[in-house]
Amino acid sequence: MSAAAATKGLAGVSAGETKIASVLQDKLIYRGYEIHDLAENATFEEVAHVLLVGHKPSEKELRFFCDELIANRALAPQVIDYIKSMQPALASGSAVPMDVMRTCVSLLGNLDADSQDNSPEANLRKSKRLLAKMPTIIGHMQNVIDGKEIVAPDTGGDAKLSHAGNLLYLMTGAKPSDKFTHVMDVSLTLYAEHDFNASTFTSRIIAATLSDMHGAITGGIAALKGPLHGGANEAAMEMLKLIKTSVDAGEGSIDDWMHKAFEDKRKLMGFGHRVYKNGDHRASILHALGREVAETERTDFIPWFDLGERVQQIMADEKGIFPNVDFPCGLTYFTMGIPVPQYTPIFVASRTSGWCAHIMEQHENNRLIRPLADYTGHPLRAWND
Ligand code: SDX
Repeated sequence: MSAAAATKGLAGVSAGETKIASVLQDKLIYRGYEIHDLAENATFEEVAHVLLVGHKPSEKELRFFCDELIANRALAPQVIDYIKSMQPALASGSAVPMDVMRTCVSLLGNLDADSQDNSPEANLRKSKRLLAKMPTIIGHMQNVIDGKEIVAPDTGGDAKLSHAGNLLYLMTGAKPSDKFTHVMDVSLTLYAEHDFNASTFTSRIIAATLSDMHGAITGGIAALKGPLHGGANEAAMEMLKLIKTSVDAGEGSIDDWMHKAFEDKRKLMGFGHRVYKNGDHRASILHALGREVAETERTDFIPWFDLGERVQQIMADEKGIFPNVDFPCGLTYFTMGIPVPQYTPIFVASRTSGWCAHIMEQHENNRLIRPLADYTGHPLRAWND
C-alpha cells in the first residue's frame, strides 16, 4: 500500500494544472471567459480560436481561421470509402457512429503529412484539420445510414455555412434555419471544453507519452462514448423514450417509473456530475434554447420538454440531483430531428477543440503521466508451492 490511499475514481483529486478552462461550482470559464457570456456573444468558431490559439480573434484572424476550417472540411477518398463500407455494420448495430468516427480519426492520422510531428506549429495545423473534418464525418455517416448520396463529398459542405450550419446541412442536404443553426452553434460552445473530464484526461495521458495528436483524439473519442460520460446525451433521450412508452401504455405515471428506477438503484442518464453538485451551468442555457425551439418551431415536441421537466423535478425534490448538459442536449437535438446515435459524435465535433488545446498544452510542458496503484491482490507466494 502506498502512504496515501487512492480515492476511488480519483474524485476530488487535482491531476495537474491547465490554463484552458476552470470548472467551478459557481462558474465555468474558458481562458477567462464565462460560459454564459460566450454562449450569448461568441460563435463556436470564435470559441474554438480562443481554445486552440489562446486568445479572442481579431476580425482578420477570425476570417483566416474560418477560411482554414472551410478549406479543410473535405475527407480523403480513403475515409469516404471506409464510411461507405461501414453501411452494413451500422445497419446491423455491430458498429455505432461513435465507433466509425473513432476509426475515421485514426485513418485521418495515417493520411496526415504532419502526423508524426508534435511541434506546436504542426499540432495547431492538425487541430484545425481535425476540427474541420468532424462534421463531415458525421454528415457522411448519416447519409450512408439513410441510404442517400453523400452530401458535398468534394468540399465537405457549403463554404457559406458556419461550422454548426454546415454540420446540419451535411446530415440532410437541406440548408438549416437560422434558429437551428444558432441552437447547434450554442450547443457546440457549451460542449467545447471542461478541463480534466475523462476523455480530455485520456487524450492528455496519451499525449504525455509523446504519442501523436490523432492517436490522442482517437482515445478521447473512445472515452467519450461511454454512457457515464458523453454517451449520456444519447442514453438520456433513450431513457425519456422508455418513460413515455411506459406511460402511454398505461403502465403507470412518470413518478411511478422514477420510483421504480430509484428502487432498482438505476442511474438516471443525464443527471449528476463529478464536479457540479448544485447543477451544471450549461444545462439551463441549453434547456431554455431547446424549449424555445419546441415552442416556436416544433410544438408537437413540447410534451417531451414537459416530460423532461417532470423528471428533473422529481430528481431534484427526491434525490437532490440535477441535470448535466447531456440531459437538455438529448431533448434539444431530438426536437431538432437529429438521429439519436449522432448526439455523441456531435459532442466530439465540439470537444475536439478542447481536446486539441489540452494535447498542445501537454506537449508544451510535458511529463509522463504515471500514477501509482495500491496492490490488493494475493500476498507473495512461490510458483512451485
Ligand atoms: C459528462 O467530468 C466532466 O466534466 C464530464 C462532462 C464534460 O463536459 O466533459 O461534464 C460531460 O460526462 C456529464 C456526465 C454524463 N453522465 C451521466 O449523465 C450518467 C449518469 N450520471 C451518473 O452516473 C454520475 O452522476 C456521474 C458518472 C456523472 C458522476 O459519478 P460520481 O461522481 O461517481 O457520482 P457521485 O459520487 O457524485 O454520486 C453520489 C451519489 C451516489 O449515491 P450514493 O451511493 O451516495 O447513495 O449520487 C448518486 C450516486 O449513486 N447519483 C445518481 C446519479 N448520479 C449520482 N443516482 C441516480 N442517477 C444518477 N444519474
